[in-house]
Amino acid sequence: MEKREQLYEGKAKKVFATDDPEKVIVSYKDDATAFDGLKKGTIAGKGVVNNRMSNFLMQILEKNGVPTHFVEELSDRETVVKKVEIVKLEVIIRNISAGSFAKRFGVEEGIVFDEPTIEFSYKNDDLHDPLMNAYHAIALKVATREEIEQIKAYAFKVNEVMKAYFLKLGVKLVDFKLEFGRLSDGTVVLADEISPDTCRFWDAETNEKLDKDRFRRDLGNVEDAYAEMMRRVFGE
Ligand code: TMP
Ligand code: ASP
Repeated sequence: MEKREQLYEGKAKKVFATDDPEKVIVSYKDDATAFDGLKKGTIAGKGVVNNRMSNFLMQILEKNGVPTHFVEELSDRETVVKKVEIVKLEVIIRNISAGSFAKRFGVEEGIVFDEPTIEFSYKNDDLHDPLMNAYHAIALKVATREEIEQIKAYAFKVNEVMKAYFLKLGVKLVDFKLEFGRLSDGTVVLADEISPDTCRFWDAETNEKLDKDRFRRDLGNVEDAYAEMMRRVFGE
């Protein structure tokens, strides 16, 4: 696989063309942003953690019937993925109240839900990723009804598999954000990444935060949290 020109640079990753029009190479950076890019920083080693963890999780999910963009890990920071057109929805699943949910509804963090919740945000930084329901998404042709049903089914499956997986590692999966993409034939697959940037992980015993909230909220020991999640997943 030949790496060609850079197609895109996002907040945490770069995307490069390859000699195969259906595949691109993603390169993970250590750059971190929060609050629509208002807060900027670097988390040393984050790119490696996110690349390796995301690839590992996507392979587990594939085995459990969730199609993903993952093709091949090239190095600690670089991965070949299927080229997709990103569906402009951030899909958020929650098992425990935290973050914007706790703020929106005026409740404390840590309420364990009987059933997971799902919500969508319109992926648009200029508008600050506003909440969007399925009817809005269909009206604005962000996704079709069929795509939304498929995305919901995949998202809940991802939750079921990941919640059980992380619990075995002594980690509560509080909530997470997923993004989906369309292959050239229109098939919907899980895309983007699954990492401490996009999930809330709490230690099962102490509720210590082991994710990007340490950066968002200036809690300190940010690199340690990423390294600890790496250790739990890979034993290193
Ligand atoms: P929230 O509570 O701020 O809405 O975040 C819910 C989950 O989504 C949390 O695990 C962090 C993740 N997330 C992202 O991956 N990207 C984002 O831009 C935001 C706001 C949240
Ligand atoms: N990465 C996102 C941003 O910069 C926000 C976040 O993860 O909190 O907008």
